[in-house]
Amino acid sequence: MSTGCSKMCQANRMKNAPLSKVREIIARANKMEQAGRSIIHLEIGEPDFDTPQHIIEACKQALDRKEVHYGPIPGTMELRKAIAKHSKRYGLDYKPEEVLVSTGVAHAAMLCMLAYLDPGDEVLIPDPGYLIYEADANIAQAKPVPYPLREDKGFQLDVPMLEALITPNTKAILIASPGNPSGSILNEDSLKAVAEVAIKHNLLVISDEIYSDIVYDGNLPPSIASLPGMRERTMVLNGFSKFYAMTGWRIGYVMCPVELMDPIMRLSFYNIACPTTFIQSAAALALESDDAPSRQMVDEYRRRRDFMVDALNAMPGCRCRKPDGAFYIFVNISGTGYDAETLCNLLLEETGVTMTPGRVFGAEGKDFVRISYANSMENLQEAARRMRSWLEAHKK
Ligand SMILES: Cc1ncc(COP(=O)(O)O)c(C=O)c1O
Repeated sequence: MSTGCSKMCQANRMKNAPLSKVREIIARANKMEQAGRSIIHLEIGEPDFDTPQHIIEACKQALDRKEVHYGPIPGTMELRKAIAKHSKRYGLDYKPEEVLVSTGVAHAAMLCMLAYLDPGDEVLIPDPGYLIYEADANIAQAKPVPYPLREDKGFQLDVPMLEALITPNTKAILIASPGNPSGSILNEDSLKAVAEVAIKHNLLVISDEIYSDIVYDGNLPPSIASLPGMRERTMVLNGFSKFYAMTGWRIGYVMCPVELMDPIMRLSFYNIACPTTFIQSAAALALESDDAPSRQMVDEYRRRRDFMVDALNAMPGCRCRKPDGAFYIFVNISGTGYDAETLCNLLLEETGVTMTPGRVFGAEGKDFVRISYANSMENLQEAARRMRSWLEAHKK
């Protein structure tokens, strides 16, 4: 007699790690496109630009030099040196030994969670937030505890809100700035709140800074690790996917003191042995060469953001803040009278515009949709036209 699950049953740690809803939406939209529908993709979280040519050339040259063998577990010294030097622009000061190269920030986040969380540990994660954080915590068999980032507070956080969620089992806080899906930068007060709570309760901080170079109105945001007392307890995650338009290359990194790095480094060995060798040479060149091509992309994202924010705020029942960074707009659609899932389905079916319901990013996102403006200005203009005319014709 079977007692519940057969031997073919997935491990418990996988039961709360569903396939990303965004991937499901992309698959559905692609199917409609293949059937001949005109689809405008505003659901995709990746640059519509290709990697700058000089980085591609550096990769080809690395292959021609036959950089095709295993490399060091934490990455090549050349790239780790380049990353350590580059980190100064965020007010950080790391030695190459304090850098580990990963296969993207997604991999880096998973390494940090698995290396530091035990079953029963709790990790505070942003709500709304990038969906891998919750799944990663579940895979580590720890408990993800969402902290609310609210529109009326500019998606910022404070000490009382964090304190209310701390228990004796809390081990870490994960923050992301600029955040996905809100596009908000955590301001100085928010960072100080995280630091105060982390120091008081002796917590680790995992800081996802992948969008730190895609910011629009002023200086690069400071990293939490640059605040007093934070370096020793923070793991900074960053990567090449977004600013350098290198999503398909799969390369990112973790920076933290050597003592914190040790289990991460051992886990990475068991996981990937080492990051891809020839890609690291190209990544080092990306950091060392003029980043004008990437800055041009940011200028273009800014132009699109400004257009889309105005267009969305002029649509019936929609309102949104102007995001500080990344390439997403989190739109409050409660005024339309539709719930977000229904609205996303109707807009896809009837206008061919694809977006992501906010609930995908956590319970706090239920009245929102996420729109990515990593798409051409022409497509954004056409999407805005289709959305506006649909919303005007279907007012509730
Ligand atoms: C906040 C955030 N962190 C990490 C990632 C994944 O980055 P990578 O491609 O380096 O794995 C994404 C991708 O959308 C993201 O939005």
